[in-house]
Amino acid sequence: MLKVDMNKFCSYELDEIKVSNFIFIIFGGMGDLSTKKIIPSLFNLFKRNKLKKTFEIILHGKTKRSNEMCYEVIKKNILKEDKEEFDVELFEKFYKNISYYDENIEEPEKCKILKSIVDKFNNSSEEENQIIFYLAVPPDLVLKILKIIENTKICKKGINKKIVMEKPFGTDYNSAKKLNKELMKNFKENEVYRMDHYLGKETVQNILFFRFGNLILEPIWKREYIDHVQITISETIGIENRGEFYDKNGIIKDIIQNHMLQILSIICMEYPINFSSNSIRDEKLKIFKSIKKIEKKDIEKNIVLGQYGNGKILGENVVGYLEEKKIPQDSKTATFFAGKIFIENWRWSGVPFYLRAGKRLKEKLTEIVIIFKNPPLNLFGNNCSKIFPNRVIFTIQPEEKIEISMNVKYPGDKNYPHPIKLTFDYSNLNSKIHLNAYERLILDILKGDLTLFTREDEVESMWEIVAPIIEASEGSIQIQEYSSGSWGVKESELLIENDERRWSRHEDN
Ligand SMILES: NC(=O)c1ccc[n+]([C@@H]2O[C@H](COP(=O)([O-])OP(=O)(O)OC[C@H]3O[C@@H](n4cnc5c(N)ncnc54)[C@H](OP(=O)(O)O)[C@@H]3O)[C@@H](O)[C@H]2O)c1
Repeated sequence: MLKVDMNKFCSYELDEIKVSNFIFIIFGGMGDLSTKKIIPSLFNLFKRNKLKKTFEIILHGKTKRSNEMCYEVIKKNILKEDKEEFDVELFEKFYKNISYYDENIEEPEKCKILKSIVDKFNNSSEEENQIIFYLAVPPDLVLKILKIIENTKICKKGINKKIVMEKPFGTDYNSAKKLNKELMKNFKENEVYRMDHYLGKETVQNILFFRFGNLILEPIWKREYIDHVQITISETIGIENRGEFYDKNGIIKDIIQNHMLQILSIICMEYPINFSSNSIRDEKLKIFKSIKKIEKKDIEKNIVLGQYGNGKILGENVVGYLEEKKIPQDSKTATFFAGKIFIENWRWSGVPFYLRAGKRLKEKLTEIVIIFKNPPLNLFGNNCSKIFPNRVIFTIQPEEKIEISMNVKYPGDKNYPHPIKLTFDYSNLNSKIHLNAYERLILDILKGDLTLFTREDEVESMWEIVAPIIEASEGSIQIQEYSSGSWGVKESELLIENDERRWSRHEDN
């Protein structure tokens, strides 16, 4: 394996972050997402000495909690990630900026805390201040929180304000449209940060650099040279303690409508006219608009859905979906998706894109594989073994790396082609400059950079794409059981398999 040492080229330090003083209000501040991802990411940015300005983090929740309780939970979660380097003094310095308030959002008229915080903010003399509302709550509370924010009247003033929305952004096209409309009553589109944490991952961003920073790729990144593309987002975990949430959403709303389509658009988009957020988002939107709608009659030919049964994951017995907590016995929610789609534009016409995602699958893996066509002539005589088509492989999880597979001559007197991989592995880089997805996205929110966030029209378009699949999943398509620890429903292999094509990890095993 040929490894490229990038350390000598990448000695960049993280720039000093030019952010103004801020108040960061997290609704659902003591929930899973906030305590495991958002607050630890804010702490890491603080630890890197990048949050030099004055800031306050306000956690909002329903349950009464003492300061000590919050302190312990947050410390425990940070310690989990930071065992060796944990600096208690630094943590306490950070924690001084945190406070917790409880109120029931279901009774918006009684929610006064936010108003008092915002009044304090309004009266401060600093012109540079910004206020960030981060909604880390179940989706049914979102509209009520928007009402509470509206009641503070903050949005009527020319204040630097931002709102961060977690997925799911709506539950279908109509609800997403309604939500966007509600948001626009109090925020401008450039104040809305719709999170898709996949976009914060280095390898996902690197797809753009890799494509548009290497001229040798551009002439072949198209239908004439690419045979097909595979994208896999697989998890070994089941639904854990998210039964109620998951059963309402399933794999199509949880993964395909957002992460999968976002990755697809970055692989396929045309060159943006520059690297501004809107130029990039314009190009992604064109891909969403070009995805060929799957007609009702073709859905079963092109889509396979499944639900995990029991089986073994890493040698341990695990229960099937229907035996999980809070799942109705007759649930038809899909935990596995495999599909074949086409993008009807000049670059990609006729190239199949095979997408699959699922829970309780054989490996935890997020991978994009671009498989090129074989050379037109086989020059290596009768003795040669098979020539493997060139591939570009972006691995996003569990490792972050990019590989190109090529063929070379195997040493000796025979004409044996031999497949090799050229590999760029992020773990070879200096980790001090490697931000995890939430750190990167929170930093962008503070700086006001919208490039890695989903725009209103993108979200609506993504819902339009999955609508017929969701409809079929509720009626015409059969949801088939697959064993936990397998690669999902057997029929998904028929979607792709022919003499030349296989799902990438199947042939490796
Ligand atoms: N967890 C993840 O990794 C993840 C990843 C991506 C997206 N998301 C999205 O992020 C959102 C939050 O997820 P989560 O996993 O953090 O959920 P969670 O652990 O259930 O947290 C929900 C939070 O909302 C608060 N809350 C619920 N009802 C309330 C009410 N009536 N008034 C005030 N506060 C209320 C809860 O307060 P108490 O703590 O006081 O009960 C809790 O802090 C969801 O939309 C989810 O889809 C989560």
